[in-house]
Amino acid sequence: MSCTMNHLQRVLTLRMYMIVGLFIVPMIMVFLYGRTYCQYEAPYGFESSLELRSPVAPLTVVKDEPAKPPEVMKKKKTVLYWTKMFSSKNFYLSERGVDGDIFANCPVSFCMGTNDRNYQPVEEFDALLFHGPELNAKDLPKTRSANQRYIFMDSETQVFHPVPNRPEFNNFFNWTMAYRRDADIMRPYGIFRKLDTNEVIPPYIPAQWLNVSDGNVSESTSLLFKKKSKMSAWFVSHCGTNSKREDIARKLQEYVTVDIYGKCGKFQCSRANEDECYEQLEQGYFFYLSFENSMCRDYITEKVYRILDYDVIPVVYGAADYETFLPPNSYINVKDFPSIEALATFLRELSQDEERYLSYFKWKSFYKVDTKKHYIVCEFCKALHDPYLPRQVIANIYDWWAKGSQCVPPLEIN
Ligand SMILES: *[C@@H]1O[C@H](CO)[C@@H](O)[C@H](O)[C@H]1NC(C)=O
Ligand SMILES: *[C@@H]1O[C@H](CO)[C@@H](O)[C@H](O)[C@H]1NC(C)=O
Ligand SMILES: *[C@@H]1O[C@H](CO)[C@@H](O)[C@H](O)[C@H]1NC(C)=O
Repeated sequence: MSCTMNHLQRVLTLRMYMIVGLFIVPMIMVFLYGRTYCQYEAPYGFESSLELRSPVAPLTVVKDEPAKPPEVMKKKKTVLYWTKMFSSKNFYLSERGVDGDIFANCPVSFCMGTNDRNYQPVEEFDALLFHGPELNAKDLPKTRSANQRYIFMDSETQVFHPVPNRPEFNNFFNWTMAYRRDADIMRPYGIFRKLDTNEVIPPYIPAQWLNVSDGNVSESTSLLFKKKSKMSAWFVSHCGTNSKREDIARKLQEYVTVDIYGKCGKFQCSRANEDECYEQLEQGYFFYLSFENSMCRDYITEKVYRILDYDVIPVVYGAADYETFLPPNSYINVKDFPSIEALATFLRELSQDEERYLSYFKWKSFYKVDTKKHYIVCEFCKALHDPYLPRQVIANIYDWWAKGSQCVPPLEIN
């Protein structure tokens, strides 16, 4: 009897061990594993604080366990450019073109990109890139593997590039790549680097900038001031826009000179010699109108970044938090003035005050602007190799793109 009891007890204990071993331990492990990965949920590109991210991130992203365990990550990552991006077959990811190794010189460079759909079976690519405006529900890959990442990429705002609201694109994309801070791979039009270390300054993190007031202004910049004779210029080819920037420019023209180059004005500078146009701008003008075509959060384009490379002060108009994206005292924001007339008065005063005008270039002692997209290519390759990024599905790309862009009406001007 006691023998049977003992036997039964032993069997029960064994069962208990088995239950613990087979179910509870793995459950605890999965739980702990999941917790570790949760710490890596910040969007790629830049480390960001989740509080900052939350106001923009719409609730359409579903995340799961990580894609692959670390040991599998040694293979070269392959990227297929499924669509074109306008005239570029390689998404303008590099100036080097399709045949060059765009990932060369990246810290993590074990990646390759191609637009050749027959390079290997399509389900074997690690990532597929789709350009928003060229999305075509009739031309989608026939096979897909669960470890691949389908990436939505756009360079404009949803105002100009709306995404088709089609069921084919629900639960279709895994990552986004766009100018927005809540994109998985943030792709701003420009970034800043520390002058001495070349280190990238993450955009949109408040209070990150140094106090630049102790900076020096180079001799060449001081000499340029003496050459300048005209107030402001604007290179523009879209005359009527959603942001109504043209109304602001017209109003400003009532008070100060605004030379409008291109289709919408009477001045010409050939786009074929863009660099030359910018050099003439720098020699002749005090200010440049860096007016965005749409008023959307985080939307700051090359209209600002390219100008900051020259010794001209950009007058910015848009809906981004400029003070977090750009160095202090490097630009003038239309929004900071009660009226266009007050803005004009300020510009006129600044153009007559050498010391004060030149103080807008002090930031150049500490930072330099970088408008090449190469470092984004590198971030992209790094992300593809990152074993800690969770599985992720964007439930509704239409919502993410349209609602998440947070576009606002134009400024009321007076
Ligand atoms: C920046 O530094 C200058 C002098 O070094 C100081 O007068 C000024 O108050 C500082 N500005 C800010 C915003 O800290
Ligand atoms: C500015 O110039 C002074 C004098 O040459 C130098 O001591 C100082 O380090 C310079 N500041 C910066 C930020 O380069
Ligand atoms: C990508 O999205 C697909 C479709 O929803 C999903 O099945 C897959 O698990 C996702 N892959 C990764 C690596 O996130």
